[in-house]
Amino acid sequence: MSTRGVRNFRPKVHFTPPRNWSNDPNGMVYMDGLWHLYYQHHPEQPVWGPMHWGHAASRDLLHWEHHSIALHPDELGYIFSGSMAYDKENTSGFGKAGEIPVVAMYTSHRPEGGHECQSIAYSVDGGYHFEKYYGNPVIDNPGLEDFRDPKVFWNKKRNCWSMILAAKDCAYIYASEDLKSWERTGEFGREENLVNSTWECTDLFPLQTEEGEKWVLLASMMAIPGRCCANIQYFIGEFDGDTFRTGTQGKEPLWLDFGFDNYAGVTFHNYDKSIYLGWGVSPEYANLVPTGEFAGLMTAARELSLIKTEKGHRLAAKPFGLDHLRAVSYPVADGDSLIGECFGLKVLGRSGKITFSNEKKQELVIEIEEENIRIDRSRAGACDFSEKYCDKLHSVAEAKRLLSGEIDMEILFDVSYLEVFADKGLETASMTVYPDVPYEKISVQGDLTVQIYQLQ
Ligand code: FRU
Repeated sequence: MSTRGVRNFRPKVHFTPPRNWSNDPNGMVYMDGLWHLYYQHHPEQPVWGPMHWGHAASRDLLHWEHHSIALHPDELGYIFSGSMAYDKENTSGFGKAGEIPVVAMYTSHRPEGGHECQSIAYSVDGGYHFEKYYGNPVIDNPGLEDFRDPKVFWNKKRNCWSMILAAKDCAYIYASEDLKSWERTGEFGREENLVNSTWECTDLFPLQTEEGEKWVLLASMMAIPGRCCANIQYFIGEFDGDTFRTGTQGKEPLWLDFGFDNYAGVTFHNYDKSIYLGWGVSPEYANLVPTGEFAGLMTAARELSLIKTEKGHRLAAKPFGLDHLRAVSYPVADGDSLIGECFGLKVLGRSGKITFSNEKKQELVIEIEEENIRIDRSRAGACDFSEKYCDKLHSVAEAKRLLSGEIDMEILFDVSYLEVFADKGLETASMTVYPDVPYEKISVQGDLTVQIYQLQ
């Protein structure tokens, strides 16, 4: 599909909406060999507006088939972010004669006055058509302006459903037998909210470690003007079936991504690994990006894990489902031409610099040092569509490395989106770039060996 505007910035394997606006991934569920992705969508314009749930599905997380809109706004308001429950045991009773219902839980957001409450809708045809529940809302607003983004999961400890949502500056946790009637069982984060930001799109899931199971809580945090960018903070701790508590992770906030364009991400439901997708544009300038007829994309699918470092456990993210593409890779050297606009790189070595450049002398630079990784997009392409996009906070992304020694890094590049996974995915950066013409050359400096593969 072509793109209005300067040139076609549409990524080839990252999810983008067929046209117009998209933001958060919603309702992600794996069913019958298909990855279903719903997403915040304004079907009429490439800017944020009345929110619907768009719908697409994929067998490989690289090629997406678009389906009709799953949820439209109604008398309770716009359909804000939420999640899906694969209700195998028909606890909700929505399935008739052996049907397995899938139940979407989302925030109903009334635009006038910003009132937010939680609603459900169900599908008995595998997630294509939804019926809204007549008893909505299932959780009314407790007097908070920000009260949204329910993420449902099966609670093995209590043998019931649980759900976490963002409640202003913390998360609330609820439990339910039937997805319709909910009681609040816990709260987390009021004391831990060191950055003092509004929370959005929380998620809570277990990961195995050599010390047994640990739980990870994700919380997207809005930017604080002039101080920090929008990002996803995470906490590691225990979930006792009712509430979440951190252990000894210390006071320093932990962030999922050291780039600028990965927000509102959560994990798929009904899969035995934690597979993550995030919205691949910062909310700070997403309404202004120069992509023409569409706006918004999703990150590559990533498998999340916990790795023990000198500082304790840390969350790592690695691209998921790319083995078959990596299998056909070639060495590249300094000055080589790139193999198109959609490729992956495997990088090994101690330190050095990788630059992608085009005939307009625009360049995107990734620098690897013993202690740091730095990505500079200040001269990578179009910048002036937003004041924030290349200001001091958003030009150069930098991370302190958690592992010392040889770097093992993977880079994905797809037309206008860069993802860097270094040190087993402990340092991950995601960022949009809008080069006026495609990058055509790669330069490799320092002590690095690089292999390239097609990402399509
Ligand atoms: C995060 C968010 C959510 C909300 C949705 C509205 O990007 O603000 O908190 O549900 O987007 O589109």
